[in-house]
Amino acid sequence: MSMLAPSSTRPARVDDELAISRLHSDVLGPGRFARSAYRVREGTGGLSRFCRVVELNGRLVAALRMTEVTIGRVPGAALLGPIVVTSEHQSQGFGRLLIRDAIEAARRAGLSLVMLVGDEPYYGRFGFQIIPEAHIRLPGPANPNRLLALELQVGALARYHGVVAAVTGGSLSKAAG
Ligand SMILES: CC(C)(COP(=O)(O)OP(=O)(O)OC[C@H]1O[C@@H](n2cnc3c(N)ncnc32)[C@H](O)[C@@H]1OP(=O)(O)O)[C@@H](O)C(=O)NCCC(=O)NCCS
Repeated sequence: MSMLAPSSTRPARVDDELAISRLHSDVLGPGRFARSAYRVREGTGGLSRFCRVVELNGRLVAALRMTEVTIGRVPGAALLGPIVVTSEHQSQGFGRLLIRDAIEAARRAGLSLVMLVGDEPYYGRFGFQIIPEAHIRLPGPANPNRLLALELQVGALARYHGVVAAVTGGSLSKAAG
């Protein structure tokens, strides 16, 4: 158990990618590739400017991925996920910090909607609500009760109908890293 209180998150860098992949593998296991966030990102590659991590004593202990998407070809939205915290550091507030900071960064960047597939009892506290049935579709199956969205601009959800697709060219480049 760490005695360090969770203090801050930072944007992910290109050289965090391997550690983030390992974290996903350790916490989510091989089933992770079937997750909606993986499927949406398939072929579009790397980390985005919205991905964030928590580092403790030089070790990456929590990571949040977020990808800019279009929904029914309309831009201005992001798909959050996965968010993963190492088992020994869960329930210490890292998840909450990452989500809060990622939402804030998305808001500052002018995005109007953040969506995800997850548990409403957890994400509801950040303002995420179940998306009305058949409004938004992901590649592959998704439980409609777990399809959640947070409007960063009032009325944003009403502008989005259709299939979620990753924005190409949204990845951090090696040169910029
Ligand atoms: C889910 C996860 C990201 C939350 O991060 P965290 O740092 O552990 O959570 P926080 O410290 O911010 O919040 C903890 C609270 O959330 C609750 N919580 C965690 N997961 C929850 C869930 N799925 N549903 C409802 N509540 C949940 C905890 O019980 C705890 O409640 P409390 O504050 O009343 O004690 C993390 O536990 C994790 O990585 N879990 C395994 C991987 C996973 O399921 N990831 C989500 C896939 S996208």
